[in-house]
Amino acid sequence: MQSKMQSKMQSKMQSKITKSYDSVAEIFNAMRNKKLSLNDLIEYPGFLKLLPSVKNKIVLDIGCGTGVMIKELIKRGAKKVIGTDSSKGMLICSENNLKSEIIKKKVELFVDDISKTKLKTKFDLITCSLVLDNVVDFKSAVKNISKLLNKNGIFIFSVPLGFGYVLKFKRNKEGIKVPCGYESNFFDTKKVTDNWDGHKVDFIVRPVSVYINEFAKNGFYLEEYSEPKPIKGAIKKKPKIIHFCNIPFCVIMRFRKL
Ligand SMILES: C[S@@+](CC[C@H](N)C(=O)[O-])C[C@H]1O[C@@H](n2cnc3c(N)ncnc32)[C@H](O)[C@@H]1O
Repeated sequence: MQSKMQSKMQSKMQSKITKSYDSVAEIFNAMRNKKLSLNDLIEYPGFLKLLPSVKNKIVLDIGCGTGVMIKELIKRGAKKVIGTDSSKGMLICSENNLKSEIIKKKVELFVDDISKTKLKTKFDLITCSLVLDNVVDFKSAVKNISKLLNKNGIFIFSVPLGFGYVLKFKRNKEGIKVPCGYESNFFDTKKVTDNWDGHKVDFIVRPVSVYINEFAKNGFYLEEYSEPKPIKGAIKKKPKIIHFCNIPFCVIMRFRKL
């Protein structure tokens, strides 16, 4: 059981993260549109490889951000997609990006924090791309994900490993950043702060075991796990991500609720 003090601190941290996304929403939207982010060059293509058929399914996308995954799910034949996000600013971008799908009633969007979700419906498939490292009360989030899934339902998520905060980097002769030492260690759960065009966004970097063990405790079976590499042509488009050919940027896991 969490103490009142702990849950107050977690709520405060989570609302700071939500406010950060409200203020970076346009920047994030522009970044995804350029298709040159780590999401586009590594994570998203890897995520889609683990995605089962969505044909005629009603899917929940948690932390839908600007709606990239929702668009893909509809393109692949989902009957309907419910997108939720704790940031209103991100959902406004989604609304703008998904106007025609919303009019056709194929998409519904709600402000919702997964660690305190108000959703009552159950789903056969839930997606969650690069979100759980922004979720402060991760244990409550996993409990809620379990409640939102039907028996045998699937939950797929991706999460960065945070090696950028573990390793120190220096530039080589070609100007490419290469690892040269350690900032911290991989094994601790830690809060880190990223800077996106002058806006600070907090993340909680957790070792992979924390994710796997929490889902296992809540009755999930790990069906497939991957550490995606940059897609073909990625390094040419963005040379500075070359170290992600040697160390993983993120992991993707597909769990089934037993
Ligand atoms: C890195 S963005 C990823 C957005 C989108 N999934 C994508 O792949 O483009 C993380 C998103 O998670 C949302 N988020 C953070 N904490 C959340 C929470 N507790 N519940 C729901 N969404 C959350 C943020 O507002 C943000 O839109």
